[in-house]
Amino acid sequence: MNHSTKEKKNLNWKNLGFSYIKTDWRFTALWEDGKWNQGELVRSEVMNLHEGSPVLHYAQSCFEGLKAFSSPEGKALLFRSNLNWERMKETSARLMMPEVPEELFMRGLIECIKANEAWIPPYGSGASLYIRPMLIGIGENLGLRPASKYEFRIFACPVGPYYKSGGLSLIRLAVTDLDRAAPQGTGAVKTGANYAGGLLATHRAKELGATEALYLDSSQRRYLEEAGSANIVLKMTRNRFVTPSSSSILPSVTRKSLMVLAEQELGLTLEERPVDLRAEINEIEEFGACGTAAVLSPVSHVLLDGPWHAFYKEGQEVGPVMQRLYQTLTAIQKGEQEDKYGWTLLI
Ligand SMILES: Cc1ncc(COP(=O)(O)O)c(C=O)c1O
Repeated sequence: MNHSTKEKKNLNWKNLGFSYIKTDWRFTALWEDGKWNQGELVRSEVMNLHEGSPVLHYAQSCFEGLKAFSSPEGKALLFRSNLNWERMKETSARLMMPEVPEELFMRGLIECIKANEAWIPPYGSGASLYIRPMLIGIGENLGLRPASKYEFRIFACPVGPYYKSGGLSLIRLAVTDLDRAAPQGTGAVKTGANYAGGLLATHRAKELGATEALYLDSSQRRYLEEAGSANIVLKMTRNRFVTPSSSSILPSVTRKSLMVLAEQELGLTLEERPVDLRAEINEIEEFGACGTAAVLSPVSHVLLDGPWHAFYKEGQEVGPVMQRLYQTLTAIQKGEQEDKYGWTLLI
């Protein structure tokens, strides 16, 4: 069956936010009796779950987030989806869930994108198709143990900017006294429970006038971790491009890509190490939050121990490093610039 309709939907592409929009098709596959079925595209966005499903009680869930972009020729490009598969594999192993085979993951992605072709925002709109693969433990259960069945599902929504300010505009982060993750906990994998625990921190950060919460390490409250849904990258004095290393932050695909660009394209020296925020704050020249949804959002202010620390003066433009990295990354993602690193996949 050909599920795709080529004609674009009549949406206000330039004004999309980051919200759920129901698209036509989603992909679903089931794991039962030790094996995956073929999987198929389905119409309904509603899932019928047993009330005892481990995902509902014990948060046995993992998910991913990636984007497809329209190129100037109108083709769809996926960005580094192999890394999302690898991360889902890490998450599922940590949560005692079966691995989604790479073939199933990639076939599901491609089928879901092709079937929803009419929902892929056109080139030049500034929007993209956000794709959400997820793996959940389902079926009858009561005691704390891994599920007996699993559903792997992929849905997609056209999205605009994650932060309301949009594009490459400045955001603010407030350091929270709540912890997102423990050193040997689940912070380095993408499981739903990490995010439920972060809702209050984000809420409090917003009350203080920030866009998002910023976490420090949970044992000493000294070292930079990450924001609620983005990693941190820093341009520091002496041409250094620095990112925190920690066992409890999510290894971001975007960060990994920016590190390559910062070294190869901008000639900066890379450092991945613990960053003592109070001790080093005056050496930070540009502060950025990065992720699939956040792209690269320059941070103008951080609230730390009381006053806001400003990285930009009033009216100042986004710093040159964040600006160049943003432009280079998005040009590769949209196929405007030669993909010399082999990061995009033509759908
Ligand atoms: C907690 C957290 N950190 C970082 C990221 C950025 O990761 P990526 O660049 O792979 O989207 C995300 C978003 O996925 C996230 O939820």
